[in-house]
Amino acid sequence: MKTIGVLTSGGDAPGMNAVVRAVVRTAVASGMNVKGISRGYNGLIDGDISDLDVRSVSDIIHRGGTVLYTARSPLFKTEEGMKAAVANCKKHGIEGIVVIGGDGSYRGARDLSLRGIPCVGVPGTIDNDIASTEYTIGFDTAMNTAMEMVDKIRDTAQSHDRCSVVEVMGRSAGFLALQCGIAVGATAILVPEVKTELSEVIARIKKSQETGKKHFIIVVAEGVGGVDKISDTIEQETGIETRATVLGHVQRGGSPTVRDRVCATRFGYAAVQLLKAGSGNRVVGMKHGDIVDYDIYEALNMTKPFDIEMLEVANTTSI
Ligand code: ADP
Ligand code: F6P
Repeated sequence: MKTIGVLTSGGDAPGMNAVVRAVVRTAVASGMNVKGISRGYNGLIDGDISDLDVRSVSDIIHRGGTVLYTARSPLFKTEEGMKAAVANCKKHGIEGIVVIGGDGSYRGARDLSLRGIPCVGVPGTIDNDIASTEYTIGFDTAMNTAMEMVDKIRDTAQSHDRCSVVEVMGRSAGFLALQCGIAVGATAILVPEVKTELSEVIARIKKSQETGKKHFIIVVAEGVGGVDKISDTIEQETGIETRATVLGHVQRGGSPTVRDRVCATRFGYAAVQLLKAGSGNRVVGMKHGDIVDYDIYEALNMTKPFDIEMLEVANTTSI
C-alpha cells in the first residue's frame, strides 16, 4: 500500500489526536503517504482531504478533541454517499483507511471495505462500549474528568448536608458511571444494565443516614436518565435537600491522560501494521492489556459483559 487515509468519526474522544499522530508517523516510517480526511465520512464524500507529514501532527499528542474534526454523516449510509466516498478514495489514491471511532464508525468501515477500500477500525469513544476491546480511547480521561467534577460537587453537597444526583455520559452503557461511581464513593450507582428501583436507593440513603452520614452522591448513567425526577423523589422521600447535575460535554474534552496517550499510540501503530500487511476489514483492540485485532464482522457481533460484581463492590464499600 502506497497511500493511506485517516479519519475520526462519531463523538470525539480525548486521545484521538494521539492516534492520528501515531498513524501518520508509523505510515511514513514504512514509506507510505498519509492523507487526512476531515470531518469523518463527510470529508470522504466532499473530498475534504489533505496531505499529512510527520510535522503536520506535531504538538497534538496532548490535545483533546480531534484536529481532523469529526461528524456523524447520515449521507454516508446512502448509496449516493458511499459512491462519492469511494470515488474520492480513487481520486486521491487512498488504498486503505484507518477509521477512529465507535461501533457506528466500524459499520461504515465495514461498508467501505466491502467496496474495495480496506479499512482498519481503532476504538475511540469515551463510553468504552465497544465489545471487541476492553479499552477505548478517551475512557480514562473522561472517567478522571467526571471524577474531578463530582469531587467538586461533593464539596458543596457536604457543606449543605445535601444529596447530589449526578448524570454522567455513556450513551446506553454504564461503564463510565460504574467506574466514576466507585471512584467518588457514590451511595448508589444507577446503570442501564442493572435495574435498580428508586426505593432501593432511598433505603440505602436512609441506612447511611442512620450511621451518621449527612451528604450523599448518587451517580446516574445517561442511559438511565431522569435525574430531575430521581432528585425530586429522593428529596420527598428522605427530606434531604437534593440537587441534580448533568455533567454533559465537559466529559468529552481535555488533555488525554497517560493511559489514553499510550493506548492511542499503540492502537495507531498496530492499525498501520495491518494495512501495511494488506489486511482490511479489521479492527484493533485490547485484550488483557495486549493489542489484538479481529475481523470487523466478528467484532460487531461481540457483546460486552457488564461487571455486576463491581457494582456489588461499590454497594458494599460506599455506605
Ligand atoms: P460512533 O462511531 O461513535 O458509534 P455513530 O454511530 O454516530 O458514532 O457513527 C458515526 C458515523 O459512522 C455515522 O454518521 C455514519 O456515517 C457511519 N455509520 C454509522 N452507522 C452506520 C451503518 N450502519 N452503516 C454505515 N455507516 C454507518
Ligand atoms: O459517544 C460519546 C457520547 O458523548 C455519549 O456518551 C453521548 O451519549 C453522546 O456521545 C452525545 O452525543 P452528542 O455529542 O451528539 O451530544
